[in-house]
Amino acid sequence: MTQTSFTENKVKILPESLINKIAAGEVVERPASVVKELLENAIDAGATEVQVSIKNGGKDLISILDNGCGMNESNAQLAVERHATSKIIDEEDLFRIRTLGFRGEALASIAAVSHFEILTCNDESHGATRIFIKGGCLEQVGKIGFPKGTKVTVERLFYNTPARLKFLKTTATELQHIQQHIVQKSLAHPHICFRLTHNRQMLLNLSGGQDLKTRIQQLFGEDFKEILMTVNHEETYLQFSGFISFPSKPRTSRRWQYIFVNERNIKSPSINHGIYDGYGTFLGKGQHPIFFLNLHIDPSEIDVNVHPAKTEIRFRNNQLVHTILSDQISRALKEGASRRFFGREHSHVQMPHTEVSGQIELPMEDSLPLEEFHSGDTPGARKTVHTKEARELPPRGSLKSTASRRKTTFLQENRTVQTKPVRESLKSHNEIQGTTVSSLSGPVDTGFAEVNDVRNLRLIEPLPESPKKIHVLGQFRKKYIIAENDAGLVLIDQRALHERLLYDIYVEVLQKKEVSVQTFKASLLLELSPQESVLLEQSMELLALSGFAVSPFGGSTFAVNTIPECLNEDQVEKVIREILDRLVLFGKRGQGDEILKDVCQVVAKHGAMFSEQELTQSEMECLLAQWEELGSPMSSIKEAPILVEFSLQELEKRLRH
Ligand SMILES: Nc1ncnc2c1ncn2[C@@H]1O[C@H](COP(=O)(O)OP(=O)(O)OP(=O)(O)O)[C@@H](O)[C@H]1O
Ligand SMILES: [Mg+2]
Repeated sequence: MTQTSFTENKVKILPESLINKIAAGEVVERPASVVKELLENAIDAGATEVQVSIKNGGKDLISILDNGCGMNESNAQLAVERHATSKIIDEEDLFRIRTLGFRGEALASIAAVSHFEILTCNDESHGATRIFIKGGCLEQVGKIGFPKGTKVTVERLFYNTPARLKFLKTTATELQHIQQHIVQKSLAHPHICFRLTHNRQMLLNLSGGQDLKTRIQQLFGEDFKEILMTVNHEETYLQFSGFISFPSKPRTSRRWQYIFVNERNIKSPSINHGIYDGYGTFLGKGQHPIFFLNLHIDPSEIDVNVHPAKTEIRFRNNQLVHTILSDQISRALKEGASRRFFGREHSHVQMPHTEVSGQIELPMEDSLPLEEFHSGDTPGARKTVHTKEARELPPRGSLKSTASRRKTTFLQENRTVQTKPVRESLKSHNEIQGTTVSSLSGPVDTGFAEVNDVRNLRLIEPLPESPKKIHVLGQFRKKYIIAENDAGLVLIDQRALHERLLYDIYVEVLQKKEVSVQTFKASLLLELSPQESVLLEQSMELLALSGFAVSPFGGSTFAVNTIPECLNEDQVEKVIREILDRLVLFGKRGQGDEILKDVCQVVAKHGAMFSEQELTQSEMECLLAQWEELGSPMSSIKEAPILVEFSLQELEKRLRH
């Protein structure tokens, strides 16, 4: 058997019709690709009404009628040629693209593999043009009566490319793909009226002049109103607006995810990652958010000419797009969840937000405002209020009485108002409200229970009287607060909440350099490993700012003279070691914010109540009231949800047999 060597054959320029067929292979994959290209042409032509008619999943007929600008005869004749477009002129225009099409090849490609007819009119007084092309060969050009606009009819798609024809799926599948394109376009352009008929049956009739919200409801039903929250981010580099699902309403499919960049429906891993990262731990395994997002970005920042189908784009600064989206989605989710829960806007106590250009690497010594401090000292940290023997401190959860203690662990200057013992304040409130506090489980409510008094539970002063938007029903397994609010039934992870509040307050006082400390008369001695000693020596200023006054005691021994008030003596060694462990991870150069955030996390983690802790009604109310007052986020310091909620509808649905 002889083998033909391709290189021995003569090199020839391919005939135009074959070139068009090859190009069509990329642009026209299936009937839905024809629909997509024709819809894009109609939208670029400024149509406000688009009518799509299909027969047998588009395999027999696709016809798209629009009321856009139309074309005159000479333009129409050019339009069906390859590389003919009115949308770009020169190379620079490639980076200024504001239209959906620009490659000038869709009509020619479609016409190469079908029986193709275009009727178009840009001025009714001059009549309309009809062009008929069969398998890429121009068969007829003539005049016809037709109103302003364009109608393209494609019959017998792939009749001359049998291989492609064989790959077509069932009518139902092809129709589904077509519908998907119409849905995408109709979401990107809710002001346009779209209709779809299949085998003369009307499948979609979306009236025009809508906004995105109404369009979503037109397509997916009223239920979506309950699930979605609005997002809007106006920033010079990247603006976006649209709707995303509440963190508590994830789906198990990616079906309802739509991204439009400058009105173009696209797939972009960096955008998707940004959104998923924004949801963070709000999403469990196999859970997916819903999103309908319109992004706007300067066309010179993107490259849409990646693939003939134009569904992929490249961003000049991928990382920035990712960071903006994840930061903003995360912020919006927290605010949204908070609004839904408390029924009002919350102002979060947060570490300064990472700039969008983000990831600024700062040397540790520059990133912290430590210049004024000297190691082994505690300036900056508000000097101790009380001096006491460290051994007098009882372990957590077993303090005898609140009265014998100082009232607040952390005092915030702007909140310093006269204090009132919590029991009294809650009592007076309940008297005013005329309510009787009942508890599903746990001890009989006498305000803060004598035996169960939890350290650090009263974080701010004055203590809010009781939560306004949420009503505590009881406690579950010493771990969860059961409550109800307007949204429904809520289960709150009490330890995660306590830790969150401690963290937020600690961050705030730390930023103000007002960390309250407790001073030991007799220093506590810490025996460290040589590596830990080096790290501790380097970190003494950071620790001092955080409320830990540590000084060298010779060799690898260090003396601890003060600790933040929210900690106990028996926790000191563990906490300092954990802080050092985390500092190792940062290395010599770390990000200031991040390091402080970590220190705060360690302190909050150890300062918070145990994971199982019996709480009285008043104690639970006190926690929730402070949560409301502080406006802390609805997520834990590890960004996991603090609560789960069940709407009445959800409960009833589950109980329906
Ligand atoms: N429905 C329409 N109404 C008015 N003009 C149209 C319509 N469809 C196509 N045209 C004109 O025909 C030209 C060629 O269309 P075609 O779809 O082949 O290329 P394109 O849209 O410019 O680029 P692309 O290949 O990326 O779609 C367009 O540039 C436009 O001027
Ligand atoms: Mg086009």
